[in-house]
Amino acid sequence: MGRAREIGSSKADLPERVFAIKMRISFRKTTETILLPEGCEGPITVSDETVRGYYERFPEERRLSTGVSQLEAARTKALIRRFAPQPPSAVLDVGGGAGAYAFWLANQGYEVHLMDLSTRLVELATDRNKKAGHPLASVGEGDARALPIADGYLDVVLLLGPLYHLTRVEERAQALAEAARVLKPGGVLFAACLTRWASLFDGLVHRRFSNPAFGTMASEDVATGQHRNPGLHPDWFTTAYMHRPDEFAEELRSSGLEVVGIFGLEGPAVLLPDFDERWADPTEREAMIGVAETVESEPALHGVSPHLLGVCRA
Ligand SMILES: C[S@@+](CC[C@H](N)C(=O)[O-])C[C@H]1O[C@@H](n2cnc3c(N)ncnc32)[C@H](O)[C@@H]1O
Repeated sequence: MGRAREIGSSKADLPERVFAIKMRISFRKTTETILLPEGCEGPITVSDETVRGYYERFPEERRLSTGVSQLEAARTKALIRRFAPQPPSAVLDVGGGAGAYAFWLANQGYEVHLMDLSTRLVELATDRNKKAGHPLASVGEGDARALPIADGYLDVVLLLGPLYHLTRVEERAQALAEAARVLKPGGVLFAACLTRWASLFDGLVHRRFSNPAFGTMASEDVATGQHRNPGLHPDWFTTAYMHRPDEFAEELRSSGLEVVGIFGLEGPAVLLPDFDERWADPTEREAMIGVAETVESEPALHGVSPHLLGVCRA
């Protein structure tokens, strides 16, 4: 295990490319100082280590099978089915965690490579891969900002997570440029973002505003998009950037890729306090998925979904 090997490269150009990658990775350790509003402790310094630390503690490997994340997963899979080329196309799932989407795609006959920043999640994916009937082609630690992959090697890139942990626009542009670089002409990028009002609505549904620190955090999200959880509250996520929908569209367009569509993933069902009960009922579940699909391309309702999925073509 360890860092993913260079994928799709001839041996001849390897040393130069590895050097270039090392140079780019050296930027990863850069820390970032942010100012928090009055009432919060600050300034604080955050870095990739904050995000890594969160995934050491939080059971991300189970997230997509609980609560509203089940709707996120169902809708993400539906959109991947709609826009991805057929197997055996080559897919990179960067920020793929323990492999929820990667193994689903490998089971369909895709050549799937998984990379993630988190050592713990990569270890889980590696263990699962040893027992998999349709194993992944590679699993390793890797950073969306510097992909160890040859230009134009891939048919599909999944970027379902890294963009919202990259808090500076330059870093997100770097990750999008890397995705564009490794895609073949006509290849497809699926890129997810978090929306600006996700904490605000989550706080309402789960009655979190009785804690004033939650209100302060949600206000900061709305005002700046910069989400921080300095107290490491287990339900309040970690360092992230939360996009306004129009801003996300602009960042995708700036990558030079053709934006095929921007889709709201969950739709208004995330606001239902009895979500779990309804999800357990097949008729209600279909209704929630159907409503999300009906409004998926309506810009006026994009901010209701905690996640947007951008689909882009190289
Ligand atoms: C919210 S999880 C999403 C996991 C999975 N893709 C999904 O959609 O359920 C975000 C993932 O992105 C990873 N990540 C964050 N920043 C990253 C980066 N710069 N490069 C690669 N992975 C990153 C995290 O370690 C984590 O596994």
